[in-house]
Amino acid sequence: MLLDISQIPQVALERMNKVHEEEIKLLNELYSTIDECLKGEKSLEDVDKAFRAFYEDVKQHFSSEQEMMEKYNFFAYPMHRGEHDMVLAQLENLKRRWEKDRNPELIKAYVEKEFLPWLMNHIQTMDTVTAHFLSHFIKD
Ligand SMILES: [Fe+2]
Ligand SMILES: [Fe+2]
Repeated sequence: MLLDISQIPQVALERMNKVHEEEIKLLNELYSTIDECLKGEKSLEDVDKAFRAFYEDVKQHFSSEQEMMEKYNFFAYPMHRGEHDMVLAQLENLKRRWEKDRNPELIKAYVEKEFLPWLMNHIQTMDTVTAHFLSHFIKD
């Protein structure tokens, strides 16, 4: 396991917390699939499936926040979107390298050293401010 879901910083909108929880579950799933693959217990195909599920979830996560920010004219939308776009570009690049090299260590290093620390910081900063703003308009 990469991160216990109880460690996810909580924001003011429950629907965003749910999305983050689901993402960490998929990230943990990907992480354990890679470990099992490195031990010869799972295939590269299993890693590929878990990676694709994670990547699709990240895209969905970001676009759901962006839709709400656009709808309610969030003042820092361009800045928040800029962070999402940067990470999507990294993931697209990782996907290309993965498809070429099929090296699970590449994905493992990225999620441990880049994605997870980035996500924790992003939730504590951008998502926290955004959720606080949106909570004045959205009741969930
Ligand atoms: Fe988020
Ligand atoms: Fe975000």
